[in-house]
Amino acid sequence: MASTLNDVRVRLEQHGQEHVLRFWNDLNKTERQALLRDIEAIDFALMERLIREWVVSEPAQETFKNICPVPVIPKAELNRPDAKEAWDAGEQALRDGRVGLFLVAGGQGTRLGFEGPKGAYPIGPISQRSLFAFHAEKIHNLQRRYACTIPWYIMVSDTNDDATQSFFRENDFFGLQQNDVKFFRQRMVPCVSEQGKFLLDEPGRLAMNPNGHGGCIPAMVENLVTKDARDRGVDTLSYFQVDNWAVKVADPFFIGYHVLRNAEMSSKSHRKSMPREAVGVHCLCDGEYRVIEYSELDIYPQLLKVDDDGNVVCFAGNPAIHVLSVDFVDRIYRQYDTFPWHRAHKKIPYINDKGDLVQPQRPNGYKFETFVFDALRFTTHEPVALEIEPPGEYTPIKQFNGDNSVVAAWESMNRYWAEWLEAMGWPVPRNARGDVAIKIEISPQFALSKEEFVERSAGCLWPASHDVGIGPNGEWLTPVE
Ligand code: UTP
Repeated sequence: MASTLNDVRVRLEQHGQEHVLRFWNDLNKTERQALLRDIEAIDFALMERLIREWVVSEPAQETFKNICPVPVIPKAELNRPDAKEAWDAGEQALRDGRVGLFLVAGGQGTRLGFEGPKGAYPIGPISQRSLFAFHAEKIHNLQRRYACTIPWYIMVSDTNDDATQSFFRENDFFGLQQNDVKFFRQRMVPCVSEQGKFLLDEPGRLAMNPNGHGGCIPAMVENLVTKDARDRGVDTLSYFQVDNWAVKVADPFFIGYHVLRNAEMSSKSHRKSMPREAVGVHCLCDGEYRVIEYSELDIYPQLLKVDDDGNVVCFAGNPAIHVLSVDFVDRIYRQYDTFPWHRAHKKIPYINDKGDLVQPQRPNGYKFETFVFDALRFTTHEPVALEIEPPGEYTPIKQFNGDNSVVAAWESMNRYWAEWLEAMGWPVPRNARGDVAIKIEISPQFALSKEEFVERSAGCLWPASHDVGIGPNGEWLTPVE
């Protein structure tokens, strides 16, 4: 331990970060070992570069002569020949066991402020079932329909790995085969102060954050996820984020377009309704495929332009739903060092010199992350972008109230499912404004689409004009308070 401590101290001094050992004498053996382990895992050359480029100076902003919209495939409908061909190819890939699901769930979920992993959030308005349960039910549905096994790869981080795995165990893996659910951790990155110094969030622990959803690229390769996929015959991964309750995982249309066009990475996209809508934008920047973050809209005024009819010119919003080819992940792993990093100015709780925890009232430091959509610029074939309509596909949950919230997601799914009930000829009570006046919840295990719902509900009687919950096997759900 002594020599290791010495090595670590020298290393920290070389980078001006030796202050993180200032409480060393107060730490017990376990805390000391954990601190040394965290420090040894730091990529100091990377941190030095990030601090130099992003903290002690402002990075040079990229400029583009020309920013224009990406080509987008219009929303897929079975009566269109290209879409029918894609659907058939997607279904075949599923039947052939070529498709795996890839969930990124390593984030800290700070805005939601939920105690526990975001995926454990009880989102079901009637059943209180969790986000994880909803996603698992989609897998049950697809496995039943295509008589296949769909492995589920779940990226977690040091911040939620144990809690996530316990949640799955407590829920008996939601009825899935344990061997088909694989958890793996992404790397962590130290948070830094506005002076570029590492922070502690306990006297013996560095304040760290997961390295962003882009961290899935090294995490998948280094944790042998791509190898596991290959061993199972899986070559196509349906990527989604844990907080998008509605996401259609392994959507045959989407998988089909990706496969038929030999794409390496594909994305869904939705039409922005206004220039400042809070989503990233798919666009071509001097010919290169990019997603520009919402926070950077003001840097690129071309992205705020509307045409004569008032439509946003660069319209392709990014709902963070992708398909990745396993070969592509392995290939870009070797280029991960050249991925751009993004900086977020945040309130980071820290231990002051007296050893007390301080909860800052304003942003006091930086977190660094890489983003998965930056992989798009490394594609060699034109990426597929497929248009969706957000209801029923994109209801992300970032906070409880407001935009992209739990409440907004409940309302959106309620409106969406009301149409399914009405397609059965069941009258849905609405208030004077026409809003749905009851709670509705339909398990995706029972039905993933209106058509499937109508088919599977044939012969059922309309229960009553109160809240309607339909469980995984078509049973009526009893509200859980
Ligand atoms: P967000 O960027 O919305 O972050 O993640 P978050 O952690 O959920 O919430 P905030 O920003 O702290 O409030 C979008 C998706 O990417 C995953 C999240 O788990 C979520 O599914 N993610 C994010 C990771 O897997 N790793 C990360 O490092 C960051």
